[in-house]
Formats: sequence, C-alpha cells, structure tokens
Amino acid sequence: MKSLIIALALVAAVPFPAHAEHRTPRDLRELAYQNGIRIGSAVDIAALRSEDDYRKVLNREFSHVTAENAMKWESVEPERGVFTWGDADALVDNARRNNQKVRGHTLVWHNQLPAWLTTGVENGTIDAAELRDILRDHVTTQVRRYKGKIRAWDVVNEVVNDDGTMRQSIWLTHLGPGYIADVFRWAHRADPHAKLYINDYNLEWNAPKIETTLSIVKDLQAQGVPIHGVGFQGHLGIQYDYPGDWANVMKRFADLGLEIAVTELDVRMVLPVTPEKLATQADYYRRALTDCLSVKVCREFTVWGFTDRHSWVPGWFDGEGAACLLDENLAPKPAYHALLTVKKA
Ligand code: XIL
Repeated sequence: MKSLIIALALVAAVPFPAHAEHRTPRDLRELAYQNGIRIGSAVDIAALRSEDDYRKVLNREFSHVTAENAMKWESVEPERGVFTWGDADALVDNARRNNQKVRGHTLVWHNQLPAWLTTGVENGTIDAAELRDILRDHVTTQVRRYKGKIRAWDVVNEVVNDDGTMRQSIWLTHLGPGYIADVFRWAHRADPHAKLYINDYNLEWNAPKIETTLSIVKDLQAQGVPIHGVGFQGHLGIQYDYPGDWANVMKRFADLGLEIAVTELDVRMVLPVTPEKLATQADYYRRALTDCLSVKVCREFTVWGFTDRHSWVPGWFDGEGAACLLDENLAPKPAYHALLTVKKA
C-alpha cells in the first residue's frame, strides 16, 4: 500500500510533459490558442438562428467572427433613417456568450449600399456636402453602437483596383481622395480602442495593388491618421497558383507597424470535387495559416464561411464551389485536418 502511495505521488510529481501543449489540437479553437492567434469565420445570421448544428460547430471551433452581410450598410439602414440592427446585434451577443472576438465588416464599401443612397447620389438629390455628412453619421453611428464590442473594423474595403489605381466609387468621385483619412478619423473618435483596418482582395499577390495600398498606408500615417491593420481577404482558387510571396507581402505591411489579419479566406475549386482537388485545397489552407503564423503580428485568421452548406462561392463563381473547411453536412474535409497540423515555426 505504502509503495503504491509513493508511486502515485511520484506520478503526480512528474511535471506535465513539455510536449503536451503541442499535441495535435482537438479543434480550431485549441489550434488558435496554442498558436497565440484567433481563428474566425464569417457568419450567416439566418443559419446561426435556425440551424442548431451550424451554431454548435461555429461556437465550438471559432474564437473570432465576422458578419457575412449583417453589418453592411444595406443591412443596417435599408431606408434612410430606419436602422435595423437585429442581425448584427444577434452576432455580437452570440460572440460575447461564446468568447469570440468580432470583426466589424464593413464601414465604407462600394457594394451593398442601400438603394436610397445610390439613387440619391445618381439623381443629384444628395449632393457632395450631404453625402459627406451621411457618411460621417453612418460611420459614427455604427462604430459607437458596438463600442468596446468590436476588436477590429474593416474601415475601408476594396478601395484599390487591380491595376493599382484608386477605385472610382461614389466616395472617391464625389468626396475626393481625402474621404479615406476622414473615415478612419471618424471611426477612431467613435471607438478609440477598436483596431482600424484597410481590407482588400488579391492583395496577397497583385503587385500594383500592393504598392498602392502600401502608399495609402504611409500617406495616412504621415498625416497622423489612426490606421492599425491590413486585412487580406484571401479568396483563393486551386486553379490558380498559391500566392507564394504572401508571407513577404505581410511582412512589408508589418514593417510599417500594422497588424495583419487574414479576413475572408476560402479556397474554391472548379466542380466536381475530387480527392486530388481536396488535397490541393488542404495544402492552400495549410500554407495560408503557415504564412500568417510566420509574421508575429498576424493576429487573426478568418475564413469566409466554414461550411459548403453556406458559402458565397457557388452563387458568385460559375461552376465553382466546395471552398470551405467542412462539407455541407459539416463533416471536416482534408483542409480542416491539414490546419490542425500547422505549428508556428
Ligand atoms: C459577399 C457575401 O459573402 C455574399 O453573401 C453577398 O451576397 C456578397 O458579399 N469581399 C467582401 C465580402 O468583402 O463582403 C463579400 O461577401 C465577399 C467579397
């Protein structure tokens, strides 16, 4: 008996093996925790409300969330002065209950604007001065509403074209290039602790877009404008090469003092799905996370939906799909398992 007690005491005294914390994580939340980042997903609010299995997986796997559509201008102010915060609130409440940080998406964009706004600008009933007031009120109202509840905001989304010129949105054409500095300042005033991002697609590899975006950031910094991060959307497809220089691009932005986030990763394929395509997809996801972890200030790795049951890809890219980590039945695909093997170098 005595020796048994001694043996037990010895076992208890053996320190927790050092490699234990590096064992294969059981899910994405644990993977994220082990690597000191947050792994997030875009959220379809209708599914969050009505599908128990969707909600369960979201809340188990992810420690960061982004509203896929619920915080866009057309969603929160479909009619002038009529605010509909229900869906956005539901996301923020669910996040608080499940220890998830929130990315606000998005304050200023050229898409998914309410019709009252675009028509008013088009037919001249909203002039430039009024448009500027409308934009300031929108940014201030929305950021203030979620003050302290949103870790990071996509303040401007997709403001640069693929050829490196500035996008001719209603914002640029009516307010001039200074609108970008204005919206960052307004957002900062409304929530001084929120991290303010510039966000774009193809920024993983497109040289003209990268150079212009870097100069926008430097310009803002030179004017003392509060900008804290750059978001790489990361809408990839396996029919294109993996953006092999992505880690270096991240480093160039990090060298300016910005934090980095992968904000909308998905990896689509031309259908039908084959085991080979799923293996390539797994490799792209694995490399994307590896690239993020290679940069110290990459804080967040968010996928644009976690299940093929709810993905924007089939609706937007003809003949393509299967872009997510889990299939339509929420079964993990090879890409999910590949992520779990990634470790910080
Ligand atoms: C997409 C949503 O996923 C779709 O449901 C919606 O119909 C259109 O917008 N870049 C972005 C996201 O910044 O807001 C877009 O989301 C995908 C591309």
